[in-house]
Amino acid sequence: MSFKKDFLWGGATAANQYEGAFDVDGKGLSSADVVTQGSYENPRKITWKNPKTGETGYVPLSMDVDQMNFPENAVPAVLDGYYYPSHKATDFYHHYREDIKLMAEMGFKCFRMSINWTRIFPNGDDEEPNEKGLKFYQSVFEELQKYHIEPLVTLSHYEMPLNLTIKYGGWKNRKLIYLFTRYAETVMKRYKGLVKYWLTFNEINALNFSGYMAGGILNPTSQDIAQAAHNQFVASALTVKAGHEIDPYNQVGQMLAFTAEYPYTCDPADQIKVMNDMHSSLFYSDVQTGGRYPEYKIAEYKRNGIKLDDCPEDYDLLKEYSADFLSFSCYSSSTTTVHKDQAATTGGNFVAGVKNPYLKSSEWGWQTDPCVLRYALNVLWDRYHKPLWIVENGLGARDQVTEDGKIHDPYRIDYLQSNIKSMKEAVDIDGIDLMGYEMWGCIDLVSAGTGEMSKRYGFVYVDRDDQGNGSLKRIPKDSFYWYKKVIASNGEDL
Ligand code: BG6
Repeated sequence: MSFKKDFLWGGATAANQYEGAFDVDGKGLSSADVVTQGSYENPRKITWKNPKTGETGYVPLSMDVDQMNFPENAVPAVLDGYYYPSHKATDFYHHYREDIKLMAEMGFKCFRMSINWTRIFPNGDDEEPNEKGLKFYQSVFEELQKYHIEPLVTLSHYEMPLNLTIKYGGWKNRKLIYLFTRYAETVMKRYKGLVKYWLTFNEINALNFSGYMAGGILNPTSQDIAQAAHNQFVASALTVKAGHEIDPYNQVGQMLAFTAEYPYTCDPADQIKVMNDMHSSLFYSDVQTGGRYPEYKIAEYKRNGIKLDDCPEDYDLLKEYSADFLSFSCYSSSTTTVHKDQAATTGGNFVAGVKNPYLKSSEWGWQTDPCVLRYALNVLWDRYHKPLWIVENGLGARDQVTEDGKIHDPYRIDYLQSNIKSMKEAVDIDGIDLMGYEMWGCIDLVSAGTGEMSKRYGFVYVDRDDQGNGSLKRIPKDSFYWYKKVIASNGEDL
């Protein structure tokens, strides 16, 4: 066994981290456009304005539900004197032809990108879609088609129309189900024949950590998060239904952040902790891909007095229109223990874990785990038996342009080599049905966690720094040529 002949090798991006042009051609303000740059040590901030008093300020973008302190009567707003990386990002909006050409040169079979909801419905609840926004993505998809690159399109990647946060309170409001589904139907109809692979919500389980990034909710409570998750599940089911009706070739998948967690000690209490943490994450795929609420979550909601605004038809939809495939991000693993005093902490996508003494960490504390993809693929395959797709994996690192004008990034090649090897084992040894592999941030873009440019993932360097200076010139790194070879050999020549 090896990778299928039509295995979808490629790379992944997200509009708010890559596109820029935040106020061009009728685009509305998105929830990501009011988030400033931060760093490993300093969290990103959401800036606000009180429309009545004119007072302004900011709150840190909290990764803990129940911890956000957004002032009453204020609304998120763009303020003078702050730097918002999404506004220009690395300007895919004006470089898409050049960037897609570079992807084609590497041999990409697939390109994961997101549509910015605010280019299509600038306020989310507008009567009509914005034609200029629709045209932009049409040109992008046509350009991809020219090179036979299959688009994989995320409908909401950590952003939504800011108006939906201000007016409706974000995803805790059931009205969002209708507004999102209408947006999804609009683009699915318009791009019929150009796009067949769709993802609804990026890392839907990030709701557990950032109700604002994943759900546009200010000061979220656990009750809000439960409701937002439910609303997104129903919206996802309706999108699967609409997708199939619009074009039988459409496949609508789920996107999960897979958080591989190992027990730090052999104390059984650590194993139970891992099980509970896995439940809180896999709950999202149990419903969206598995089609039903798991008992552990029903019991938890009952215990905590959480009541959903739901109706019986919701559950029929979840069952009948579960996701066609399960895609996921996976960068590293973390370790956990009830014996916190015995272990040092390290970073990660959402939460700091315990440092694993067997693994090396990046400058941002993310640990490189040479077995993680095989592990992740097996856990998800055994649980759902649905096709899987790795849509994010990669290494954020500081790159240097050397005197020869090149970027030598052996650390990135090492990371990818070991990760692809682990993924290959899941296919070769375990026989898992894997659709494709999309390396995160294939052309340098802004980091979601810190908003920095200096945390780079790409095969292609983009000349832009943390202060927003630079020519935006694209330069292939050494890993560009390495990945080209990997794709050409269908994963044999690592
Ligand atoms: C994933 C997100 O969690 O991780 C991406 O879907 C993000 O948007 C990626 O960019 C890498 O994280 P970071 O913080 O290094 O950009």
